[in-house]
Amino acid sequence: MSSHGSPIPMTSQPCGPLTGEAHVPGDKSISHRSLILGAMAVGETRISGLLEGEDVLDTAKAMRAFGAEVIEHGGGEWSVHGVGVGGFAEPDNVIDCGNSGTGVRLIMGAMATCDISVTFTGDASLNKRPMARVTDPIALFGAQAVGRSGGRLPMTIVGAAAPVPVRYVVPMPSAQVKSAVLLAGLNVPGQTVVIEKEATRDHTERMLVGFGAEVSVEKTDEGRVITLTGQPELQPQTIVVPRDPSSAAFPVCAAIVTPGSDVLVPNIGLNPTRAGLFTTLREMGADLTYENEREEGGEPVADLRARFSPDLKGIEVDPARAASMIDEYPVLSVVAAFAQGDTVMKGVKELRVKESDRIDAMATGLRANGVTVDEGDDWWVVHGLGHGNVPGGATCASHLDHRIAMSFMILGMAAQTPVSVDDGGPIATSFPIFEPLMAELGADVARTDV
Ligand code: S3P
Repeated sequence: MSSHGSPIPMTSQPCGPLTGEAHVPGDKSISHRSLILGAMAVGETRISGLLEGEDVLDTAKAMRAFGAEVIEHGGGEWSVHGVGVGGFAEPDNVIDCGNSGTGVRLIMGAMATCDISVTFTGDASLNKRPMARVTDPIALFGAQAVGRSGGRLPMTIVGAAAPVPVRYVVPMPSAQVKSAVLLAGLNVPGQTVVIEKEATRDHTERMLVGFGAEVSVEKTDEGRVITLTGQPELQPQTIVVPRDPSSAAFPVCAAIVTPGSDVLVPNIGLNPTRAGLFTTLREMGADLTYENEREEGGEPVADLRARFSPDLKGIEVDPARAASMIDEYPVLSVVAAFAQGDTVMKGVKELRVKESDRIDAMATGLRANGVTVDEGDDWWVVHGLGHGNVPGGATCASHLDHRIAMSFMILGMAAQTPVSVDDGGPIATSFPIFEPLMAELGADVARTDV
């Protein structure tokens, strides 16, 4: 079910070769940040290639509620007339962030140092997810939070009227938490320092610099030390949102496991904080190449070419790479089912607090489709059956999680029998064109009655 609709059961039939080009949508992380930073700048930010998925549309709606003018011009072109750092108005109503952890956590950070009170809510998935990871650091600035037990939404944040700068060591690898603290630091006099022990996606730091903020990053024994000078006047920008490597993962993995496939996925950002899956797939023996490698907007970009790879082997995924592929473990576990031998994934506790408990959701669904999976608190192992040997045939629960739904649709393309999900609606949060795009390549993914 999307955050607003009834469940949409879907089935993926075993299919012939996938071929052609897959033009995946804009990057979700960068799309949220473009709207939020645009709303905090003075003047008009122009955005092209914005991901028009439900998560990002909820953030656009929220920015309007805070007083920014957000206009859709069509064809992925948007503009935001920002209100300036510290200029957020108090919304008249509850802010509903739907399914989006990134949306709610970044917006909580951005409003935490404004003298306003805001109540946040979300869908059944978001309202189960932990928010203390954001309310703890924003309390140091002087903001107060009252939510449900366990620090869950719905929750009201009373922003700090006289915020003080903060030095914060992020206790878990989380770009959302890091970004929430940096966005809060924007409206604070003096320097806010955020330290992350493991590098996570660095879009916020890069984009803050683009918008004219003073940000320095230093690598020390403590980790990555990010220092932001508060109260800048952010300058509006023209932003071209790159295509999302996390969405590219689905056609890439589909091609790798489906016999005879040869798919080109053009213009994919290969920022090292996001590209861990592609390195891992190559280590497993996938036929995945980077074509036309180039730099765009200071980021490495390439066209990905993925071909059917009959001799995949299971590997132990380097845990140091976890943050750079954290959203890709569900679809990696599908590829692992078609590999020979075990794929071991360690240091991935964060997967348990995503849109769903992704280890549990994938392990349960893979087992129902004939694949053996072992799991512990922060690790799991998929015992690969090899190409052509995955039985399939089950209906899996998607748990309001887009990446779980899409991963099982990829499983069905190369299994012996069709694979279904109880609800493909959440796919619209991040990849609204998933069904036509996969159909164009030759997949048979259809809405069904269970
Ligand atoms: C995101 C950070 C990650 C990721 C999410 C997007 C971001 O979450 O899973 O899809 O845009 O900052 P965490 O910060 O919880 O790791």
